[in-house]
Amino acid sequence: MTDPVRAREALADLPRVSLAELPTPLTDCPRLSETLAGPRILVKRDDCTGLAFGGNKVRQHEFVLGDALAAGADCLVQGAAAQSNHSRQLAAAGARLGIETHLLPKVADDTVLQGNYLVDHLLGAQIHPIRPDQSTIEAKQALAEELRAAGRTPYVIGMGAERALVMAAVAYINAALELANQVDEPPTAIITTSQGSTQAGLLVGCRMLGWDTKVIGICPMPPSHEAWNAPEAIAQMARDAAAVIGLDWPADSFEIELRQDFVGQGYGLASPAGLAAMALLGRTEGILLDPVYTSKGFSGLLADVRAGRWGTEDTVIFWHTGGLPALFAQPEAVLEASRS
Ligand SMILES: Cc1ncc(COP(=O)(O)O)c(C=O)c1O
Repeated sequence: MTDPVRAREALADLPRVSLAELPTPLTDCPRLSETLAGPRILVKRDDCTGLAFGGNKVRQHEFVLGDALAAGADCLVQGAAAQSNHSRQLAAAGARLGIETHLLPKVADDTVLQGNYLVDHLLGAQIHPIRPDQSTIEAKQALAEELRAAGRTPYVIGMGAERALVMAAVAYINAALELANQVDEPPTAIITTSQGSTQAGLLVGCRMLGWDTKVIGICPMPPSHEAWNAPEAIAQMARDAAAVIGLDWPADSFEIELRQDFVGQGYGLASPAGLAAMALLGRTEGILLDPVYTSKGFSGLLADVRAGRWGTEDTVIFWHTGGLPALFAQPEAVLEASRS
């Protein structure tokens, strides 16, 4: 089946839980556009999805946890950096749905109890710290096996958990349909910080709408990171997400523009360009960005505007994915941004 109308019906019929405040706002940024003498820039505010400081995972968890519950899961397993936005949003979703949630944060001697990691404790998740040099994927598998041996039915989420990553992309197909109700015509480009699922879903959604909008992912991590997905893997994620709603699209349907040039010193470390982007958006529009994800994504958008890729005739959407609690875990970076 390749019929977008039936695909919409299939999407609406998927198991889903209610977590997010939707639709999220689409905010016009006239002072920023004027400052740049550039395109019309709109920010799609998935930092405003509502639950426990919001973010893109709240939107994704509606479908991921719908899938988990339909599969009979009675507990959730997720692991990532101590400052993981994903883990914080999962802990909140688990609390809201009354599902036991296990988190495996990477904790070092100098890890600060701030931002996301602080909030995780408040939300009632069971926290099993692992060392920074351990494999998160292996640690999650080991915990899931332990839980299974104890008669539980865990659902593993996040890096390495293919089904969950695909269902997270499905949520962003739906998000593209939400955007279509907020704009008069297709935007020239959508730019977002992504490790795969958000970009893949938006791309499928745009093509389903018949839009030729460029969907650009700004990667927050180098290829050496365990959670990194190659463009081919993201294209596969897009095809798999399309297939969930019955769209059988050929292998070469999705061209992935995944930008690696805005990572800076590494995953989790603020970049100078990101800090400057954070200051500019804050001062022109009062919109906050975080040091780990969205500031890097927004620095990618600004670099392309300044290089002349998008001009005054274009409309460019920055899809804000949240992550704002990390601001409080990196006060030095925020201070540096404030001085730029
Ligand atoms: C703020 C923020 N933006 C973007 C991402 C990447 O999302 P995705 O893996 O869906 O591309 C994350 C993942 O944790 C995030 O926390």
